[in-house]
Amino acid sequence: MTPELESLAAQPSDAATLLGFRPMDDIHAEFAQRVQDALNGPDLGFPARLDALVQHLQAHFAQEDRWMEDSGFPPRECHQQEHAAVLRSATEVQALAEPARTRIGRDFVREVDAWFGPHATHLDSALAAWMCKRALGGKPVVLQPRPGQGARP
Ligand SMILES: [Fe+2]
Ligand SMILES: [Fe+2]
Repeated sequence: MTPELESLAAQPSDAATLLGFRPMDDIHAEFAQRVQDALNGPDLGFPARLDALVQHLQAHFAQEDRWMEDSGFPPRECHQQEHAAVLRSATEVQALAEPARTRIGRDFVREVDAWFGPHATHLDSALAAWMCKRALGGKPVVLQPRPGQGARP
């Protein structure tokens, strides 16, 4: 495999939403980590972890929006509107005073986490397939071990 193809190919991961376009899968793995960081820590320090998640969301969505714009991805309006709506909500939560910011912020993080699966399945997956098809000439195929089974050597 050429270095160029290797950089696009998905790498083994425990992420549930591997889409086969490595740059996007890497971003999604970071998203999952930021969500876990935000939810698992104590209230003390939550605002900083929320800010880190929101910064990630801004970069995450900006990158996907750029891919759509730069490649002329046809059905991009709905996808970009979802990104913008999440960022509007994030900004509203960040503007709250404590203790509402932490209390509602935790709800926001759980909602974003719940939103992400369907978003990735329905919208990000189409973009990942489009990007792979442009670069490689075909849709990605993601092979994963069945739940509870490790990868064979
Ligand atoms: Fe995404
Ligand atoms: Fe997206």
